[in-house]
Amino acid sequence: MALQLGQTAPDFEADTTEGKIRFHEWIGNSWAVLFSHPKDFTPVCTTELGYMAKLQPEFAKRNTKVIGLSVDPTDRHAAWAKDIEETQGHHPNYPMIGDTDLKVSKLYGMLPYEAGETCEGRTAVDNLTVRTVFIIGPDKKVKLLFAYPMTTGRNFDEVLRVLDSLQLTAKHRVATPVNWHQGEDVIIAGAVSDDEAKTIYPNGWKAPKPYLRIVPQPRG
Ligand code: BEZ
Repeated sequence: MALQLGQTAPDFEADTTEGKIRFHEWIGNSWAVLFSHPKDFTPVCTTELGYMAKLQPEFAKRNTKVIGLSVDPTDRHAAWAKDIEETQGHHPNYPMIGDTDLKVSKLYGMLPYEAGETCEGRTAVDNLTVRTVFIIGPDKKVKLLFAYPMTTGRNFDEVLRVLDSLQLTAKHRVATPVNWHQGEDVIIAGAVSDDEAKTIYPNGWKAPKPYLRIVPQPRG
């Protein structure tokens, strides 16, 4: 069954380009982004891995660890990394899981149980559902998941934007509106009564409708 928002992200042990890890222990008290790839040396994924390496400092600023996965062995990932650096100008600076036995792909609902237990003989198209992004919180719960088609490169700026929203809304009882970016106005959470809101926001709020109460982004 597919993983759902709010569920605990399955723990696993896996080989990565930076050695063996146990996933939950590796996440520790950070947030994590796990993004997956069907096979090494695939063109769209090549651009994505380079861009993620460029963005890695932005994730680090947000106390977020990045980890990739591809359905191939880690020594192939290392060879691919050279091409990524050469063509994208950035060498992957995060671990990449070598999911040779499809264990993690199946645990995360990216491949069906019937896919078997080896990457050998499988093509990128056989694995095309392994193009997902998961954001996992320090509580190890799944906070966001999405799957992209093989012909569309993912928008990792959007992953950063969602992280900003998740981290803000974990701290303050607010929600963020459409296309929100850091610093823009936010919505008072529905669970906050008007009486409570008056104590939190003594300067009041804009309310084009009683259920849509808008305030500047809380700081801190
Ligand atoms: C890619 O270009 O990254 C890709 C190609 C085939 C299947 C999945 C991804």
